[in-house]
This record gives sequence, C-alpha cells and structure tokens, in this order.
Amino acid sequence: MDMHLGGRRALVTGSSGGLGEEIVRHLAAEGAAVVVHGRDEARTNAVAEAVRKDGGRADVALGDLGTDEGADAVAAAALAAGPVDVLVNNVGVYDPSAGWESATAAQWAGFYNVNVISAVRMVQRLVPGMRERGWGRVIQISSVGGHRPERIQPHYAASNAARDNLAVSLAHELRGTGVTSNAVAPNGILTPELTGTLTELGRGRGWGETWEEIEPNLVANLAPNDTGRLGRPADYARVVTFLAGTASAYINGTTLHVDGGAYDVVGEAYEL
Ligand SMILES: NC(=O)c1ccc[n+]([C@@H]2O[C@H](COP(=O)([O-])OP(=O)(O)OC[C@H]3O[C@@H](n4cnc5c(N)ncnc54)[C@H](OP(=O)(O)O)[C@@H]3O)[C@@H](O)[C@H]2O)c1
Repeated sequence: MDMHLGGRRALVTGSSGGLGEEIVRHLAAEGAAVVVHGRDEARTNAVAEAVRKDGGRADVALGDLGTDEGADAVAAAALAAGPVDVLVNNVGVYDPSAGWESATAAQWAGFYNVNVISAVRMVQRLVPGMRERGWGRVIQISSVGGHRPERIQPHYAASNAARDNLAVSLAHELRGTGVTSNAVAPNGILTPELTGTLTELGRGRGWGETWEEIEPNLVANLAPNDTGRLGRPADYARVVTFLAGTASAYINGTTLHVDGGAYDVVGEAYEL
C-alpha cells in the first residue's frame, strides 16, 4: 500500500535512538522527509546520516522538550527547511524500578512534564500550521500501561493514560480540519538493547540457552499475549507509518494497541 508520504515532512521527537529511530527509518523509507530529534547532537546526527545513506531525506532538531525554550528551539529547527505535516510525539521516560513507595512527588511531576507536557508543547507549536494547510497527522506514542497499569511505575502508567486522553481531546479540537489525532500504545517490543538482558534472564530461569528457546517461555511466563512472541520494532513502526499516511484518514481520536493482544499475568509481570 502506498502511504503517499512523498512530499510530506515528519518530525519524530526522541528519534536519536530506540523506537523513535525505527519510526523515522520507516517514514523515510516510505518517502517522507524526516526531522530527527534528540538532545545528543552526535547521536541525532548519526541517525539522520544513516537515513540519508539509505536514500532518504533527513534534517535534525536538537533540544530538551521538558522546557518551553527547548520546545521553541526544536520547533524552529524543524520548520527551518519546510512545514511539518506529521508530528510523532515519541519522547518519553520510564523507570521500571520505581514504585508507589519510592517514586517521589517530584518524580511524578517530572514524568508528567516529559511524557505529557512535552507533547502539548509541540502540538501548540506545530499543529496551527497543519490546520492552516488543511492536512496533518498527530500521533501520540503511549503504552498499554495507560489503561492496564502494573503495580510498578504508577507515575509512568498514569502519564500514559493522559497521553491517550489528550489524543482524543485534540481530535475533537481539530474537527473538520483534515488533521487527525491518534495514539499508538506499544507493549512487549523487543529492542536490540533488550535482547541480551532477556536472554540472560531466561537462562537464569532455565528456559533455554538460545533466544529462540527462551522467547516462548518468557512470553508465557512474564509477558503473555496470544501471538506467543514479543513484537519487533518493525511490527510497531509500520503501524505508526500507516497512521502517518493518507490511508488512515478515517481513524481519529483512538488508541491503536500494538501488543500482540497482551493480557495480565497473575503474579509477577515484566514491564517491556
Ligand atoms: N520500549 C518499549 O517497549 C515501549 C513500550 C511502551 C511505550 N514506549 C514508549 O515509546 C517511546 C520510546 O521508547 P524507547 O524505549 O525507544 O525510549 P528510549 O530509547 O529511552 O528513547 C526515548 C527518547 O526520548 C528522548 N528524551 C527523553 N527525555 C527527553 C527530553 N526531556 N527532551 C528531549 N528528548 C527526550 C531521549 O533522548 P536522549 O537520548 O537525549 O535521552 C530518547 O531519544 C517512549 O515514549 C515510551 O514511553 C516504549
């Protein structure tokens, strides 16, 4: 399916690594000019350079989205080479080691600022242009923890509920403008960094030696879903890319879950 992303520019916040990098690579492969964003200049440039090497078009925007000044700088850099048609609010922080007793009020506020208000900052700076041009896509990255919170990191789960919620309110605000607003909630996505950690964990539990042996046992015991495997970054980035294109025009104000149909595990859960 042609996503009709040629001629569109897309900013993916927090794309200097992790899942954000995977998203910019997929958007660029579908013809979008991308703006790679990060705080670390070298890592951000490296991703942009890799996109260009693959034949894509990439600009760079640097800045801390936890502040208004940082958001001003990111928006200015993103708009310097042209309008932004697709905004993917991917920046986010999480900390599975934090719980009800250990997470301080300041940490709750910090999570809310980065996971929720950073997105609002970019919406306020970039969506007016989309509205004027009569076309746009705003995609809020969240997590299934927003509607199915674990015992651990309640501040992260609550911030994800807010991310899903703001996507709906924004869709109502943008009624009839040609700009849609949705959220994508991933869970259990196997990033390259996670593979080593999870292989070690599986060996320790006696679930096998190789990743191929360990994966089905890990899924069954710690992160159950009905596909019997973890998601791969491409499983997820393809959904974001679809939402960014023209074919998603009738999807609005909703959260798409990319989690293999995950369900709660009784007892121990592993936050991926
Ligand atoms: N990984 C998963 O399976 C999973 C599951 C559910 C939801 N998610 C969501 O998906 C998103 C990406 O996850 P990930 O695992 O790829 O995360 P990650 O590797 O930690 O990347 C997060 C990105 O956000 C940036 N960032 C953090 N705070 C920032 C700030 N104040 N200003 C600007 N940039 C900031 C980071 O930049 P620096 O490099 O400068 O720190 C990094 O580029 C997050 O929103 C997360 O909540 C991920």
